[in-house]
Amino acid sequence: MTRAVVLDKTIALLGLMGVGKTTVGRRLAAVLAVPFKDADEEIERAAGRSVSEIFDDFGEAAFREGERKVIARLLDGPPIVLALGGGAFMDPTTRSLIKDKAQSVWLQADIKTLVNRVSRRDTRPLLRDSDPAEVLATLLEKRASAYAEADLHVNAAAGSHETTLNHILDALEGGR
Ligand code: S3P
Repeated sequence: MTRAVVLDKTIALLGLMGVGKTTVGRRLAAVLAVPFKDADEEIERAAGRSVSEIFDDFGEAAFREGERKVIARLLDGPPIVLALGGGAFMDPTTRSLIKDKAQSVWLQADIKTLVNRVSRRDTRPLLRDSDPAEVLATLLEKRASAYAEADLHVNAAAGSHETTLNHILDALEGGR
């Protein structure tokens, strides 16, 4: 597939857990022929621990600090596709850095779709001890207004990740 998108800035994918930032981001990077990075994976690499272990051993605040540093470093490099963790864009420093240095894309889906998708893995500390639907709905309420500051808003609910990928490419082509 060739698409008329030339990357002069990093594309930062944001949105709630389970929306497909990593899966779709990987495919988007392949189509655009640029590297893909997942912020959570980079934090895990830097810490030598999984996200759950970081939460358990050091607490969420320490995770957020690592997240801020790792994202700042990634945004300093050449253009990539960057999948953010769901909470990253809530940090004011990270948010303004992303506004400055990246093109941000909010992937949106309804809670039912997200619950379906997160149920495939149990690696997310925020969903471990409570009802995922309730947690995700609360997070959406808290985060929607910040997420809405993203440059592009893309529907990631209906259909497959391939459909979402095409929606993103359409939005990128239309958005420049
Ligand atoms: C979080 C989302 C997770 C991960 C951490 C916290 C959040 O990333 O960063 O568990 O606050 O929404 P994904 O959105 O990639 O699951």
